[in-house]
Amino acid sequence: MDTIKLLLVGCGNVGKSFIKLLSSIEMDEEIGFVGIIDRKLGSFISNVPIAAKEIYKFLLSGYTFEDFVPSKGTILRDLTFDSIVDKVNMDVMIEATTTNYNDGEPAITYIKKAFEKGAHVITANKGPVGFAYNSLKDVAREKNLEFKFESTVMSGTPLFSLIKYSLKGCKIERLRGVLNGTSNFIFSKMEEDKIEFEDALKLAKEKGYTEKDYSIDLKGIDAKLKTVILANVVMGGWLKIGDIPDVSLEGIDLNKIEKGLEENRRYKLVSDIKKDGDKILGDISLELIDNTDPLYSVSLNYNKVVIYTDILGKIIVGGPGSGPDETAYGIISDLLEIIRGINGE
Ligand SMILES: NC(=O)c1ccc[n+]([C@@H]2O[C@H](COP(=O)([O-])OP(=O)(O)OC[C@H]3O[C@@H](n4cnc5c(N)ncnc54)[C@H](OP(=O)(O)O)[C@@H]3O)[C@@H](O)[C@H]2O)c1
Repeated sequence: MDTIKLLLVGCGNVGKSFIKLLSSIEMDEEIGFVGIIDRKLGSFISNVPIAAKEIYKFLLSGYTFEDFVPSKGTILRDLTFDSIVDKVNMDVMIEATTTNYNDGEPAITYIKKAFEKGAHVITANKGPVGFAYNSLKDVAREKNLEFKFESTVMSGTPLFSLIKYSLKGCKIERLRGVLNGTSNFIFSKMEEDKIEFEDALKLAKEKGYTEKDYSIDLKGIDAKLKTVILANVVMGGWLKIGDIPDVSLEGIDLNKIEKGLEENRRYKLVSDIKKDGDKILGDISLELIDNTDPLYSVSLNYNKVVIYTDILGKIIVGGPGSGPDETAYGIISDLLEIIRGINGE
């Protein structure tokens, strides 16, 4: 079996965790990096695949790729994405750059270029899937390539793969879930520690759960993009983020939280995706739900989705919604799926 050649674009928290997990998980497959591109750490490409273990060891040293001297192969450094994509010989591109909530770029362009070069693509980035799923899927299909993105919603918790592989033949009629871990963490902390919204937000920031621009979480923008992804990927919709109004979380104070709890009710930012005739509708809303609702029990930065099917009724999936290792695991599971396809298994 030939070594599977990877190009990693974006080597921040998730990219680094991906390299770490790849170097620690035992697998039959031979996998190596022919390049890494990162705005902070710099870039390199190699004419031979370099093992994850070697790169991870180097990353622990804290140096940038300018100082990276691999044990084999010759390398080129400090290239732009455009020059790299023309020079590198890759099987799979892993895209883990920062999400752009305005238009999904430049990741959409990167992914199109990778497809042009005949590479399969895995992304953890919500931007390209939220803004361009239908067109990227078509290009991948035309070229007989895989486009995978398990980590974009619920990080490594298997949602897309569960629906694709384990609910074959079922019609998905509705999806309803808590998809934004930050808002859920804030409300849970207010309930548990009896603290005000601002203090719970501070805790979420300290734990690294919020986006750099935390208004993305507080206005529901992250939840909206995930809602769009589920509507378009799972239900075949053409939803756009602009179709869903913003929601503000900031009006929820401790008094409201405590009143809710007295009635066995909790505040949740809920995404709801339904069919209306031929149309797929998606929405987010701040709901005070009671303890008979399956979403009542989701706490801290966990996520949960209720999948309404025609044959099996409700299927409920819950698990971590964020975290570098959890997200990197989603990339690994996508990668193994692609490799099995390449190997005809
Ligand atoms: N962390 C999670 O829990 C989680 C969960 C699910 C999905 N995701 C998604 O996974 C992706 C990565 O997340 P992360 O936590 O690893 O973010 P991060 O730590 O900010 O890493 C992103 C890295 O990509 C670099 N970068 C940005 N634009 C680039 C470009 N055009 N070319 C090359 N490098 C570029 C960034 O450099 P600069 O910092 O210099 O810009 C940074 O080093 C994001 O799209 C995020 O939404 C993350």
